[in-house]
Amino acid sequence: MKAEYNFIANIIEKNSTVLDVGCDDGTLMEFLRKNKNVNIRGIEISKEKVQICIAKGLTVIEGNAELDLKQFPKNSFDYVVLGQTLQAFINPEIVIKELLRVGKKAIVTIPNFGNWKVRLDLLFKGTMPITSSLPHEWYNTPNIHMCTIKDFVRFSETINFKINKIDLKYILNTHHHHDHIGGNLELKKKYNCDVIGFKDDKDRIPGINILLENNQIWQKGNFEAKIYHTPGHTSGHIAFHFFKEKIIFTGDTLFSLGCGRIFEGTYEQMFNSLKIFKKLPKDTLIYCGHEYTLKNSEFCLFNDPDNLKLKEKVLKIKNNHKFNSPTIPSVLNDELECNIFLKAEDIKTFSKLRDLKDNF
Ligand SMILES: [Fe+2]
Repeated sequence: MKAEYNFIANIIEKNSTVLDVGCDDGTLMEFLRKNKNVNIRGIEISKEKVQICIAKGLTVIEGNAELDLKQFPKNSFDYVVLGQTLQAFINPEIVIKELLRVGKKAIVTIPNFGNWKVRLDLLFKGTMPITSSLPHEWYNTPNIHMCTIKDFVRFSETINFKINKIDLKYILNTHHHHDHIGGNLELKKKYNCDVIGFKDDKDRIPGINILLENNQIWQKGNFEAKIYHTPGHTSGHIAFHFFKEKIIFTGDTLFSLGCGRIFEGTYEQMFNSLKIFKKLPKDTLIYCGHEYTLKNSEFCLFNDPDNLKLKEKVLKIKNNHKFNSPTIPSVLNDELECNIFLKAEDIKTFSKLRDLKDNF
């Protein structure tokens, strides 16, 4: 799945109405329908691709955005999406104006001709750049109005539409360690955002202005998270459980195939903190504080050499590393089957494993 799709999905509110302009084979439509439960329609110039979309059960009409958006009344959709095709239209200005008439908001993505790789290519090779998002030769490219991000911002000022910048609103601190709170004050100054953390760490988390308690539900705007106090790594460590989305930020308490070092707490506290995670729905996604998965897997394999599920997971982890992809998030079910610290059934086993890991 393209990173761009996740980016678009993060902007779109759940249960909204969406028009995907130039929807291609409907991949983005399917993704948004599944993940955001949106009421989505598409418009696509290629007859073959329209047929592919219809076969997938998507509502798509054949049409050209430059001519056929006229049929939609003003504000017909909450969002209109135009992915990577603005530069291929004869008149991008008309298209943008139409997008903003038909939708309350428009999401437009463009291949950035100002990207440094593109600039270097042109400088050193002296030929038109060819990249994954600009794959054509100059003589067969459909792109007739290439622009840079700076050009696009200037264009928005010329025709008087506003680009919404994504603002940082909240910094969620799981604990006070410097590698987690080091940017708080600078970011707070720049974005005027809130800094959130555990009440007992109010003197150790710089800029903190929202204090949370164990088992509290923290709700702000679209966010709703249950707070779990998970001491062990530090005394004031917390986890943020976005229970509706089945996502948990575990900070440095639980890692994929590992757990945090015990700095301020006891073995028993850490063991009990991990128990909280074990009770969550098995399809919960674990977003932890560090990408230590590959190194952790070596310790798990060393102590649990016959675990076939673990061996399978290690192959996936190595494949992710090969393609420079993250292994996070991890799924709780995989952790329950493969993470030796979650598999430990008693405090004695857990403590022994933790000591062995510290010297592994
Ligand atoms: Fe830490």
